[in-house]
Amino acid sequence: MLLLVFTFLSTAIEALQVVGRDMSVVLGGTTILPCKLIDAEEPVTQISWRKEPQTDNFLTILSATGPLFLNGHDKRFEFIGNFKDSNGSLQLSNIKLTDEATYTCIFTLFPSGNVQTGIHLNLLVPPVTSLKDNRPTLGTEEVSLATCMAAGSKPPAKVQWLTGTVGEKVRPTNNVTQHANGTTTTVSTLFGVPTREINHHLVKCVVTSAAMSKEESLPFTIQIYFSPIEVTINKRSEDSFECVTEANPKAAFTWSRSEQSMPQSTVRVEGATLQFLSMTSDLNGLYQCEASNLYGRKHSYMYVHVTSGACPACWTLFGLLLFMIAFGVAALLYSYKTGKCLRTEEDTRGERSKVPTSGSPEEEEEEEAAADL
Ligand SMILES: *[C@@H]1O[C@H](CO)[C@@H](O)[C@H](O)[C@H]1NC(C)=O
Repeated sequence: MLLLVFTFLSTAIEALQVVGRDMSVVLGGTTILPCKLIDAEEPVTQISWRKEPQTDNFLTILSATGPLFLNGHDKRFEFIGNFKDSNGSLQLSNIKLTDEATYTCIFTLFPSGNVQTGIHLNLLVPPVTSLKDNRPTLGTEEVSLATCMAAGSKPPAKVQWLTGTVGEKVRPTNNVTQHANGTTTTVSTLFGVPTREINHHLVKCVVTSAAMSKEESLPFTIQIYFSPIEVTINKRSEDSFECVTEANPKAAFTWSRSEQSMPQSTVRVEGATLQFLSMTSDLNGLYQCEASNLYGRKHSYMYVHVTSGACPACWTLFGLLLFMIAFGVAALLYSYKTGKCLRTEEDTRGERSKVPTSGSPEEEEEEEAAADL
């Protein structure tokens, strides 16, 4: 009966007198575990702290000796209260995930005994965000385009895509992994058919988390990678030619001459441009422009014939032929035999022949055929 009365008294006092407050703190930070006894009419003999669910105190504070650690001194805890003012507050710094718990602050009164309150320490861990380009290559099947990740977050982070104008052509899928230490990794992958239509579109991955002061926005430009689609040789002026293609990443160009080395003194090559410095018959022959990137290569040819006649300035190209090498030999022989001769002036820009597009698997064959020439 006495025990019952005592227990009742004790809880009644507890509810009224010990004041604490739950705290949320970011990993690695510092917090206060506030605890104060108010309106005590009896003297305090001891203040103690316990971390639930442990049943023994890890710290006791006596007016005579000050704070005393019972299971080894954890320097991260500091008593910042004041015994005389019945303030038992602690400061905890360099906070770890394992510090998350309910801490019980206990005041021992004489003669009533203990009054206490629980203070919950809630740990917040901001996610580590990242965005990965999955380097999709041109195709017709749906593939993953990019992956946005919010790793090790507590509470779980929200990961969303802002897709703007490509919204209907892409879709996100989210995957959440819970870790043993209480954090969560959220991965959102953006799927879509890797067409040239969605290439270069800007999207955003937006990560929100209670552990971050504001949302994080990771911009991403959708990149669809492809080998050079077709190579055309454009005439820039009387004596210079430019090789053009579409590719992602940008293609590198190589000019070469079939079965002959480039005449060093009369030809200048600068990236995609081939320039003849003087019109002499040693330029004659078949020139190849090859466009290549990580994903493949493609080439085109141009046949050059300089006629040194009465008027050296009025040189002509015997033929300016752009063709795929698969048809190249036939076309070359044909034009050579029929003596088709185009004056450069007539060789208008529109006249350049388009190279039919073909898939990249044939490209190696093209290379072999070029060697046969
Ligand atoms: C929690 O666990 C995950 C997975 O093991 C780990 O990557 C992460 O770093 C951990 N977080 C902390 C704060 O220890």
